[in-house]
Amino acid sequence: MSTVDEIKDRLNIVDVVSEYFPVRKSGSNYKATCPFHKEKTPSFVVNLERQSWRCFGACATGGDVFSFIMRIENLEFGQALRLLAEKTGITLLERKISDGSESLYKINLEATLFYQNILNTPEGLSASRYLKDRGVDHKTISAFQLGMSASGGARLKEHLSSLGFDLDLAIKAGLLKKTDSGIIKDFFWNRLMFPIHDRKGQVTGFGGRSLDNSSPKYINTSSTPIFDKRATLYGLHLSSTSIVKESRAVVVEGYMDTITAHQFGYSNVVASMGTALSEQQVQNLRSSAKTVIQALDPDIAGQEATLNSLESAYHALERRSIGQKFNLDLRIAHLTNGLDPDQLIRQDNDQWKRVISEAVPFMEFLIPAKTSKYDLGTAEGKAQAAAALLPVILSENNSLKQDEYFQSLSVALGVTRQALEASIGRLANVPHRANKRLNSPPPNTGPLDTNRINRLEDYVLSTLLKKPELKKSTERLLPEHFHKIENKTIFTEWLGCDTMAELRTNLDELLYPHLDYLENMGLEPAESSASESALTQALRRMELRHLRNLQEEILGAEDAKVPPSREVEATIEDLNSRLKELYLSTD
Ligand code: UTP
Ligand code: MN
Repeated sequence: MSTVDEIKDRLNIVDVVSEYFPVRKSGSNYKATCPFHKEKTPSFVVNLERQSWRCFGACATGGDVFSFIMRIENLEFGQALRLLAEKTGITLLERKISDGSESLYKINLEATLFYQNILNTPEGLSASRYLKDRGVDHKTISAFQLGMSASGGARLKEHLSSLGFDLDLAIKAGLLKKTDSGIIKDFFWNRLMFPIHDRKGQVTGFGGRSLDNSSPKYINTSSTPIFDKRATLYGLHLSSTSIVKESRAVVVEGYMDTITAHQFGYSNVVASMGTALSEQQVQNLRSSAKTVIQALDPDIAGQEATLNSLESAYHALERRSIGQKFNLDLRIAHLTNGLDPDQLIRQDNDQWKRVISEAVPFMEFLIPAKTSKYDLGTAEGKAQAAAALLPVILSENNSLKQDEYFQSLSVALGVTRQALEASIGRLANVPHRANKRLNSPPPNTGPLDTNRINRLEDYVLSTLLKKPELKKSTERLLPEHFHKIENKTIFTEWLGCDTMAELRTNLDELLYPHLDYLENMGLEPAESSASESALTQALRRMELRHLRNLQEEILGAEDAKVPPSREVEATIEDLNSRLKELYLSTD
């Protein structure tokens, strides 16, 4: 039995929930008003037999005792596990894994001190003058640990050698490089140095700015085991307290933008370092901020690459927000007067505040930005614009928001709502093949077999971990389809990671044993030979089981004497149509 199962075995969910608020017995279930949203009639149901909870009202989520504790206590999985372990008297085997990262952090710190030191010597005069000219004060210089790299080619190398560091380690950290002729040299020369930290404040990499306008303006540490530019937010270690406090983060593009923002008291600002926010970066902010505002420079705001990158980050978030603490609110602040945040904050502080406070929800920005790329004077142009935007709009989980977007799109295209909706109707109607089965109820597959489900889930996740190229086949897979909390947590994290190493770093180490199990799980030959279609089948089975399970829960929770509320009715209808669609999809 896994630790999670052992803990569940010792707890009764009804007792756990009752510690937070009273529940009332109703038939074979227990009911309460939902603690996660405001309501008058109780739609929060605890099922004793299944040891599960579900809100049939606005939240429309549910889960087991772990997900309940995670939500009500606002905890990550590992924290919830520790809390419940303590409650049940189960000892957790925490193990510290040494993967070599420690030595990389250590050598980066040494390099940071070396660069900082140069800045304070006559050799650093060009950089310290430059910072003074740009108005960066001493406090900011030391908070961000700015420095200067030496000219001369191998000064850091000599320094690190003298301290007894292994040069291969320094190469691995990106501090030194081996030339084609085999000579080892410093990576950064004669540049203003910006150490890049992780959330905890450990230095993971560096950016270096040229001081004489030579090109490239910045060079950055390339990928290392502890540094991945796309997953990093510059300045996060100095911003995270403010971000949590305000539940809001502002993302700018550049190092200098972040530094200036902090110097002027905007301490919730981080930088995405030159590209629009990536999926992993938003994922990094999701646990601490409800609102993320991306400030876009005028020259990049309409660019295809920016739009695409933001759109895919947004998509992924929408998909993943189900069952999470909150829906992340992504907004765009569009800088229009040709100044970047660094310049704007210095020249017109009030305008900066205004631009940020007037940030618009991402879709409100995306709709006009995308439709403007088509010739809306022609029917064809309108159809193309609609086709480009409808998938994003249809992927929105919140029906109120979705309704708003339909409205904005119909206004932008100059067509009526009816015409727009009819165009989706046409899209959706095309693949109808087997109408005869549409109205027949799904076949009954008997009671849920927990072991089989778990085996299925483990198989799916194990396959995905081993064959990352199959990520594209998982569009429909949602965290809530996993009923085992360890799988759900690993899957959610995996969506935002590119490598197993990254996944491991982001996961609580309490999940390592389960991750090891998944990584070593033998796939049967038949499964591995046709992995893609086997996976598709397995995903479909998982979704079916999840929907059926939901259906059973809903029917079991309803009081037979009272007609179901409109909300419940809508949920049942929605479930039925999703089930039908799934059955039809195999014809
Ligand atoms: P910018 O060109 O806007 O630079 O690039 P900046 O931050 O405003 O710097 P200053 O004010 O000219 O000194 C934005 C960010 O893009 C990345 C850096 O992270 C930079 O801060 N970048 C830019 C690079 O990585 N390499 C480059 O050559 C240029
Ligand atoms: Mn700038």
